[in-house]
Amino acid sequence: MVWKNILVLTALLNLYGVWGSIQAPSALNLRITKNKTVDIPSTLYGYMWEDINQSGDGGLYAELLQNRAFQGVIPGTQAALFGWQPFQGAWLSVTSDTQGVSSALPNSLEVDIPSFVNGPIGFENTGYWGIKVQSGWTYTASFYAKSSTFSGSITASLTSSTTGQVFSTQTLKGINSKWKQFTFQFTPNTTAPDTENVFRITVNGADAQGASIFFGMFSLFPPTFRGRENGMRIDLAEAFAATRPSVWRFPGGNNLEGGSWDTRWKWNETIGPIENRPGRIGDWSYPNTDGLGLLEYLNWAEDLGAEPILGIWAGISIANYSELSSWPVVPEDELKPYVDDAINEIHFITDPAGSSDLAKLREQYGRKEPYALTFIEVGNEDQFQPDSYAAYRWNAFVSAISAEFPHLEFLATTQPSTALNPAYKRIDFHQYAVPQWFHDAAFMFDDYPRNGTKWFIGEYAVTSTNTSCNLGAISCGRLAFPTLEGAAAEAAFMTGMERNSDVVFASAYAPSLQHLRNFQWSPDIMSFTAGTLIKSASYFVQQMFSANRGTQVLETTPASTNDSFPLFWVASHNNKTNAMFLKVSNVGSDDIVFDLSFDFPVGGFGTAITLANPPLTVNSGVFSVANTPEYPEAIVPVSSAFAIVDPTKFNYTFPAQSVTVLSLSVKI
Ligand code: AHR
Repeated sequence: MVWKNILVLTALLNLYGVWGSIQAPSALNLRITKNKTVDIPSTLYGYMWEDINQSGDGGLYAELLQNRAFQGVIPGTQAALFGWQPFQGAWLSVTSDTQGVSSALPNSLEVDIPSFVNGPIGFENTGYWGIKVQSGWTYTASFYAKSSTFSGSITASLTSSTTGQVFSTQTLKGINSKWKQFTFQFTPNTTAPDTENVFRITVNGADAQGASIFFGMFSLFPPTFRGRENGMRIDLAEAFAATRPSVWRFPGGNNLEGGSWDTRWKWNETIGPIENRPGRIGDWSYPNTDGLGLLEYLNWAEDLGAEPILGIWAGISIANYSELSSWPVVPEDELKPYVDDAINEIHFITDPAGSSDLAKLREQYGRKEPYALTFIEVGNEDQFQPDSYAAYRWNAFVSAISAEFPHLEFLATTQPSTALNPAYKRIDFHQYAVPQWFHDAAFMFDDYPRNGTKWFIGEYAVTSTNTSCNLGAISCGRLAFPTLEGAAAEAAFMTGMERNSDVVFASAYAPSLQHLRNFQWSPDIMSFTAGTLIKSASYFVQQMFSANRGTQVLETTPASTNDSFPLFWVASHNNKTNAMFLKVSNVGSDDIVFDLSFDFPVGGFGTAITLANPPLTVNSGVFSVANTPEYPEAIVPVSSAFAIVDPTKFNYTFPAQSVTVLSLSVKI
């Protein structure tokens, strides 16, 4: 009805010739020339990664069982049982009184069966707030068990916790007094209607009365991205891959640092069989299994076609952020073991096959050939401890590592203004801020000295619209989800990065993922639950910019400057495909028409991808400024094609608050 009224109104306005005079903005001229100003580095767009918001455990890492090996918990406490619950009255506790399944995993689940019980009794894991059961998938499950007082069979199943429907079940025999691993598969032939499902283990109560049974290191894996063992959840992995990232910074972020030196991320405790990995208390308030470890990250980066940017621990923990902290920075004369540890990590990653014990260890863990590695990031956000970084930490790591690996390049993490010795050539700069900051910063590199210094915008996002917040104040008026306004502001900034990609060699929106049932940080580029995935407006901007890459920036007249607010743009050419891209962010509230002209021939058709809020939006006219659990597809890109009659010019309307990528076939 509303649309009908608008159509009638439009027809009347056209009839009386007034539409243009009251509605159409005057067109701006934009000339795009074949002058190439900057070679765009292949590393320009990518991701920063750390386990935050259950992004790894419970997220990208496809393991379905939460608290699978009781890592990082205090035995004997109720809290140690998170993720687990009794079924039909079994008594559960986490214990370290019996030998664990490995020296790395001292904790076990003790299941005591009361006397005088009959029927199935046991326990269940509720997954990461649900378990997705999908018909046609083969789930690989395993656990260790031992008992001196029970030798009967054990039943494992995938079961609905609401209806009791059993989707798949297996009976396992052979438990005895020594740890034994049971490995089996579930092949459900029904898809569960929801994710309120459990992984249930039972014994027959009549056979087990009064018994104590110990369990350890459980696992339940669905099919994974590219079928990798111990691999990634398919829908999340595919969503990352669809943005064609070319850098992958890991393992943090704060989660590299640890709450203390000893709880830092330790590469050597994240490799090999999962039974060898003790896990750790992560920096984001939940234990990390480290199932997603160094080799998994490196394989994943390869699967994406992305260059790793490896963060190494550089002598501070997040406790050091507070001036009141009792944790000092590692003093200069105690730093060497940590430098040596980083060197060993790099040997493990890059040594030629068979050339060293660490190369042999890598091969033993499934990877013979070395990984490509160029970028080492020394620490994370060391602007919080700049004095020690400048005085000795940066120097200690860079000098020692480059002596052994002269080809490596190092990223500093202090403020750009902090002088370092040796002088940094690459720097990781972070910014979480309001849209206005990103509008202004679209030009921050235009006049930056071309002195060889390269920037990685290693974390950025619009996190708030509260302009009374200090710039970068992440706790001030946080957005719940990335908004279209924020995404358009990020896109405005990205036009500046791309235009100046002789200075900005890489970038990463952050953080990446948010489990909607347990998160510490919003907004995030994708949100998910056990069974759902929401791609944000910011996600689509990343995809639009990254998947449509030129090899050189093209000159435009006028250039995008502060004067052209609210429009921001960058043009590029891909010399392999002869495609030209024009990326435009309109952060204003009016449609704007560009008269585009070219000093080279443009093909007969163009395509446009546009991210905008439809005029009357979606879902029964409800206006949503973000993709949310309620309206997960309120803001999605729309593709269209258009004919180009004159190969030297055409006009194009960029809608209010939108991001557009035009792709044209050209002859340059
Ligand atoms: O992206 C979330 C956090 O923000 C990162 O861990 C840290 O580097 C930054 O302060």
